[in-house]
Amino acid sequence: MTTSSPTREVAVLGFGSIGSVVADELAAGRVPGARLSCVVGDRARGRVDVPVVDVDEATARADVLIECAGHAALLAHGARILDSGTDLVISSVGALVDRDLRARLDAAGPGRTFLTTGALGGLDLLVAGASAAPFGRVRLTTTKTPSALVQDWMDDPQRDALLGTDAPVVVFRGTAEQAAPLFPRSLNVAATLALMLPESEVEVELVADPAATLVSHVVEADGPVGTYRFEVRNRPSPTNPRTSQVVPYAVLRTLRQALAV
Ligand SMILES: NC(=O)c1ccc[n+]([C@@H]2O[C@H](COP(=O)([O-])OP(=O)(O)OC[C@H]3O[C@@H](n4cnc5c(N)ncnc54)[C@H](O)[C@@H]3O)[C@@H](O)[C@H]2O)c1
Repeated sequence: MTTSSPTREVAVLGFGSIGSVVADELAAGRVPGARLSCVVGDRARGRVDVPVVDVDEATARADVLIECAGHAALLAHGARILDSGTDLVISSVGALVDRDLRARLDAAGPGRTFLTTGALGGLDLLVAGASAAPFGRVRLTTTKTPSALVQDWMDDPQRDALLGTDAPVVVFRGTAEQAAPLFPRSLNVAATLALMLPESEVEVELVADPAATLVSHVVEADGPVGTYRFEVRNRPSPTNPRTSQVVPYAVLRTLRQALAV
């Protein structure tokens, strides 16, 4: 005899390019076993048929909270959400480059943490390969339009040079941890790789390409059980060029996995 699992209440924190799609898909009933219970984020007012509440009320209402709000929100609320017993699906994986935050979330609970694979593919095979023997080095080359890589800390000459380039230019090369303070919003894929392959050294290269219409991530790894090269080319979100359109659907896939365990 099979018994169906009870429907779980899901809250969405952040109503931007990821959160708005996630909330709309949930409201449309596209994730079996999940019901949108509320949203945290003023931008949702008048755009959803569920209450717009604060984080504490969301954790009281929801079995699972999906963070789509950014690094600061994860830092401010992540541990408290888990301590309340609510499971947490994290979109802002790049924030976890911060070891202190990782330690705080690891120590929090009883809620469980689920990281989305977000804009990246091929992780299942890479994680399997690394479990046979860690890769000495994994290379990630991310290419975006120059405007998606402009940062607040850049001075006018740096910004003008980046925006005015007529050929691809490497703007950063190093580890995900080194990139964290410089390109915090372009770190999610690098951090995902680094977290999933903790014993491998992940080298990140960020390229600004004025001709780029898609966001490209090329992952290369070489180990005793195989040589891998994955290239994904995602269309950027119309509302946020730093985020790929596929990400909300990856987040919903992570939610489905969270509901299954
Ligand atoms: N894992 C991945 O592959 C991946 C890919 C792209 C983006 N991301 C990350 O996902 C996060 C969301 O991305 P996005 O493109 O939707 O960003 P966005 O800027 O379009 O939307 C974020 C929304 O959250 C809101 N917000 C911020 N703090 C809040 C708080 N405390 N309470 C309520 N609302 C709050 C903002 O006002 C904004 O509306 C970012 O951290 C981004 O870096 C992850």
